[in-house]
Amino acid sequence: MKSILAFVSLACAVAAIPAQSPLLVNEPIDADFHVDGFDIDLSSRRLVQMEGQPPVWMTELDKIETKAQGLKFFDITDAPDLGSSARLRVQQSFPTPNATEQVKGVLKTLSTDGPIENLEKFSSFRTRYYRSDTGRQSQQWLASKISKITEASAPESLQNLITQTEFSHSWGQNSIIVRINGSAPVDEGIVIISAHQDSTNMWPFLPAPGADDDGSGTVTILEAYRALITSDFRPVQHVEFHWYSAEEGGLLGSQAVAKDYEARSANVIAQSQFDMTAWVKRGTKEEVGIITDYVDSGLTDFNKKLVDSYLEIPYVETKCGYACSDHASWGKAGYPSSFTIESTFENSNKNIHSANDRIDVSDEFSFTHMLEFSKLAVAFAIELGGWTKSD
Ligand SMILES: *[C@@H]1O[C@H](CO)[C@@H](O)[C@H](O)[C@H]1NC(C)=O
Ligand SMILES: *[C@@H]1O[C@H](CO)[C@@H](O)[C@H](O)[C@H]1NC(C)=O
Ligand SMILES: [Zn+2]
Repeated sequence: MKSILAFVSLACAVAAIPAQSPLLVNEPIDADFHVDGFDIDLSSRRLVQMEGQPPVWMTELDKIETKAQGLKFFDITDAPDLGSSARLRVQQSFPTPNATEQVKGVLKTLSTDGPIENLEKFSSFRTRYYRSDTGRQSQQWLASKISKITEASAPESLQNLITQTEFSHSWGQNSIIVRINGSAPVDEGIVIISAHQDSTNMWPFLPAPGADDDGSGTVTILEAYRALITSDFRPVQHVEFHWYSAEEGGLLGSQAVAKDYEARSANVIAQSQFDMTAWVKRGTKEEVGIITDYVDSGLTDFNKKLVDSYLEIPYVETKCGYACSDHASWGKAGYPSSFTIESTFENSNKNIHSANDRIDVSDEFSFTHMLEFSKLAVAFAIELGGWTKSD
């Protein structure tokens, strides 16, 4: 109980509490705690893995409090064995970027129009919390947006190679997977470009527009997808775009997906996470933050080459710690994973996980900055996916 009360005061300190919030009632939260529109059992027990420690069982409420304190973790309740075959995987090497003409052709077609329109809508849901009704609605909106873009942008013969699926989760908000089938029938390598669709407030029942975290990554990779299919992109490898649910719940969605791929012995050759791509802190110069801890170093070097070859801005190395975004799930499964972010971790957006993670909070929120990350995603898809002639 003590920890519960401590958390309630913490939550009150960090955000304005709406009038109807049970937090205003100065009582401990009991097992029947309920807020309309949310399906959370705060007393349910979860298995949580933090850096360098054996996994520990804790309640959902303790897990929320742990996150609010800034600690990072995997919630491994549903995927305790993720990575059990990781040691069997052979080390991949990555090429020197050389598809210059094809990449530059697609880069020319990128625009901030779609990202602006899409993010205005996506950040207008009260919250995209993975256990909320609006989290489910935002996911349905995103799925329908993606399929409209496929229909409107991909030539018909390419549409036959594209599949969009919902990867179901027990909590209601599903992950979304879009795949452009490659032409290589034998080795069937998979290239994954990803972002997380859910948002959260430090106290999950409060509003969480999540414009930067990770609405920005969500629309960044969607714009890359739109531009690629508009150009009739025909990869050799399978190229997939993933929008994960429940990153904020301890990487739940990406772990479930990675577990499924691992169980099927899928040959994931590279994964690139885009989580927060919009913020340029006042007084700093515009850069791409390349995360160097808990990532594949070869793939990370490859990303640096892509930035040098195709972006208008330089990269800067930075670190974000253990289990800090969905690339960590792929890394745990033994697949080459990487993560790029809006700036150094220190200069990144400090409004996240609050009601202020909004587009209009400051002119530090930049759609042209986001577009540089769409360029990176396009280059990643073409340089690693290959490009055959269209039929
Ligand atoms: C790039 O290099 C690879 C070999 O690493 C080759 O297979 C491919 O055809 C080259 N692509 C272009 C566009 O030159
Ligand atoms: C994509 O490729 C897989 C084999 O990897 C095949 O089973 C599937 O039918 C293909 N889908 C489409 C839409 O071509
Ligand atoms: Zn995030």
